[in-house]
Amino acid sequence: MFEEEKRAAAMEAIKHVKSGMKLGLGTGSTTRYFLDALGELVKSGKITDIIGVPTSKKTEEIANSYGIKTVNNINNIDIDFDGADEFDPDGNLIKGGGGALVREKIVAYNSKNVFIMVDSSKFSEKLHKFPLPVEVIPFMEDQTLSHIEELGAKCTFRDNKKFISDNGNYIIDCRFDYTDTGLEQKIKMIPGVVEVGIFHNITTKIFKGNGNTCEIIDI
Ligand code: A5P
Repeated sequence: MFEEEKRAAAMEAIKHVKSGMKLGLGTGSTTRYFLDALGELVKSGKITDIIGVPTSKKTEEIANSYGIKTVNNINNIDIDFDGADEFDPDGNLIKGGGGALVREKIVAYNSKNVFIMVDSSKFSEKLHKFPLPVEVIPFMEDQTLSHIEELGAKCTFRDNKKFISDNGNYIIDCRFDYTDTGLEQKIKMIPGVVEVGIFHNITTKIFKGNGNTCEIIDI
């Protein structure tokens, strides 16, 4: 059922893509539906001159396999298309379940529009369900984890430190009772933390699958 919703969200979102656009290309299973659909449009020539900024090596591979040109340093991205692990009514997000939060946040921050595609299971009145991903430098990492725990979380290294991000770092999954901007700032202040998977005030539209249809929420 959620696969159908992910697909419905991606199929609605892709209607906003026009030839010549610069696009942020997100990461994850929902974005995969979007990338496959975009790839078909590019291959058939119905859409041309797309430049994509991929948020992970995996997404870069998929985009290139369809002949979509990708770059990693560009101004004025028109629309960033990505998924999320959790979203609230104000469009705030938790991201990083796929470990791509650093590049995802940079691309979202540098985009004129951020369109988030989700299935209905991702909704929460208050962000707290999904363990918050935090990317940390692989140096004094046990100490970095302890400092995050001091803020009130139970933390674990993803896959016992076997998961390494595209940037060569560890991901710590953190269970807090609450998440807000204050918490994001406190975690970012800890030396060794690269990025926190709380995305505040960055979303412009949410495409939420509902069965085989899609609800569009303007933020
Ligand atoms: C990747 O790091 C994440 O932020 C994904 O965007 C998020 O995990 C959503 O992925 P799915 O679409 O697979 O649920």
